[in-house]
Amino acid sequence: MDQATSVIELRQYVQHWKDHGHSIAFIPTMGNLHAGHMSLIEKGQALCDRSICSIFVNPMQFGPNEDWDHYPRTLESDIEKLEAVGCDLVYLPAASELYPEGLDRISQVQVTDLTDNYEGKHRPGHFTGVATVVLKLFNIVKPDVSVFGKKDYQQYRVISKMVEDFNLDVQIIGQETTREPSGLASSSRNQYLDATQLETAAMIYRQLQQTAQQIEQGARDFDSLEKTAIENLDGAGFTTDYFAICNAETLQPASADDRNLVILVTAAVGQTRLLDNIEISLW
Ligand code: PAJ
Repeated sequence: MDQATSVIELRQYVQHWKDHGHSIAFIPTMGNLHAGHMSLIEKGQALCDRSICSIFVNPMQFGPNEDWDHYPRTLESDIEKLEAVGCDLVYLPAASELYPEGLDRISQVQVTDLTDNYEGKHRPGHFTGVATVVLKLFNIVKPDVSVFGKKDYQQYRVISKMVEDFNLDVQIIGQETTREPSGLASSSRNQYLDATQLETAAMIYRQLQQTAQQIEQGARDFDSLEKTAIENLDGAGFTTDYFAICNAETLQPASADDRNLVILVTAAVGQTRLLDNIEISLW
């Protein structure tokens, strides 16, 4: 696997591939790679001739009290995993190259509407940091396709809207969530959970499935479904931030005649905040 750390170096590899008529899939990550990330690379490989994964713990998307300093950095094992899956290139940009004048001086990408609620509300500035770095990475890599996990559903929708709003020439693919056998969504944060907490954590997806099933069977009192779900989760030991039944496109609260829904949930077990969601198609 090739490695690039500077923009110039990265662009040389990409240009070489483009000269040979190869299409390029790009998978941006913050490292500490797990099975979920690998499924994104494999999706990119299935769609394009070459795959590029970036690893960059983007300081701009972390709030002042968040865990940027403590975000797990496991470069050696990440590189092993990328090599094992047959990724063609890993891009490891330095913060000083992406933000040469510092985080305060960089222009910012603000995606409207979709960022108002949920993670956007809970983490002010987070999606501006995500959109800004992803736009920069798209302009550096110039991929044909970029794969995002639906695990972070709001992020996937925010990036899709940015691409639409700015006419970016890249196709965004949403990849299904990789789960543990218990149903728990694979996440870097799962390593913070002990055995009991891991068991509790698996309840999130069970609750999502249960509420989804009720909606599929005709339940439309979304407020009461949300309330019951939150009571169940909190009763099992979670601190639930939100359990929201939304229109899958706009992420606004769902109305009874919406056909494509998503339930977004964030609930903490101890200090660990876990995100998950489930899509529902009513056709
Ligand atoms: P990170 O949390 O490393 O995630 C990188 C990608 O992996 C995202 O698209 C995320 O949705 C996807 N992913 C994580 N867990 C997954 C799972 N269980 N199944 C499928 N996909 C999963 O998201 C970020 O980094 C950053 O915000 C980034 C987009 C790189 C910008 O800095």
